[in-house]
Amino acid sequence: MKTCTILGLETSCDETAAAVVVNGRDVRSNLVSSQVKLHAKYGGVVPEIAARAHIEQVAPLVEAALAEAGIGYRDLDALAVTAGPGLVSSLLIGVTAARTLALTCDLPLVPVDHIEAHATSAALAHDPPPWPAVALVVSGGHTSLYLVRDYCDIALLGQTVDDAAGEAFDKVAAILELGYPGGPVIDRVAREGNPRAVRFPRTWIDTPHFNFSFSGLKTAVLYHVYGAGQKYGSVAHLTPRQVADVAASFQAALVETLVAKTVAAARHAGLTNVVVGGGVAANSALRSDLQSACDAAGLRLHLTPLEYCTDNAAMIAAVGYQRFLRGETADLRLEPHAGLLRPRRKGDKVAK
Ligand code: KG4
Ligand code: ZN
Repeated sequence: MKTCTILGLETSCDETAAAVVVNGRDVRSNLVSSQVKLHAKYGGVVPEIAARAHIEQVAPLVEAALAEAGIGYRDLDALAVTAGPGLVSSLLIGVTAARTLALTCDLPLVPVDHIEAHATSAALAHDPPPWPAVALVVSGGHTSLYLVRDYCDIALLGQTVDDAAGEAFDKVAAILELGYPGGPVIDRVAREGNPRAVRFPRTWIDTPHFNFSFSGLKTAVLYHVYGAGQKYGSVAHLTPRQVADVAASFQAALVETLVAKTVAAARHAGLTNVVVGGGVAANSALRSDLQSACDAAGLRLHLTPLEYCTDNAAMIAAVGYQRFLRGETADLRLEPHAGLLRPRRKGDKVAK
């Protein structure tokens, strides 16, 4: 069988990424240039700074991804690029680079939806999940449950109505003055704390729908640390042990909610396979608690390997392969879109 080698490009937020993937699963290179240091002093992603860094990084990263894979432009069969959702000024850089390569190397161009890539990234694991599956997508910008009937056939079951899980991690880390991005540092600090020290709210944990809300949890942490009605101050009045207890208790509330809703969604859909992807899927408590809950419920959990949880281009090339097989290429007028590329439920507005 002829092999299909795809170069994936990802620039939807603050990571510039390029990867070479053969036949949608065999990752030959997977490079990520993180901008974390550039944004850290602002406590979040600054779109102008992100776009400028993408401009500087994208060409050298493509060259490095090809070199690591031991191939040249002529060995590529197609280009896959994240075209949305994300920051338009960031997406524009990857899309422009992909359009330019498509033109100069005469390669097909495949637009990829970033969330679809997170929803199916578990397929990059050694033992890929069979579809259909229920997918939990937990990232900095999204927290959703999907029914993945097959590659490229995804329906929304529920999503956050306010903050995304990763956003909650980042904001709580800011409240606790732990730095940015908050997810990895809370994950680490929480190991020293007691997850039962403070009982934070588990919003909608038992309600029969699959939406999430995390802004109340974030406010509960803020009021616990500074007193009701207060704004951010300094956490100097807390001991390191108390900070760890708050971090662990926050993480426990958030993880318990994600786990309960995911198991309930799988039961509701009558499915036994569960997949999880997105930056927050790297969280150690989520990974172990979801595993225990799935074991207890007789569900099979397929975790996305750690290197493919946070933003990367291997997952973009993997979805690009599936779309390419289905003949879904774009012409050189491809444009980035801040919102969804494809509908996930009736009435969704999508890019034209
Ligand atoms: O998927 P991602 O790289 O970018 C988006 O598409 O948003 O996710 C980034 C988010 C950030 O909010 C970051 O704090 C969170 O993922 N994150 C984590 C962990 N590692 C990254 N959250 C919890 N625990 C982690 N270990
Ligand atoms: Zn992402």
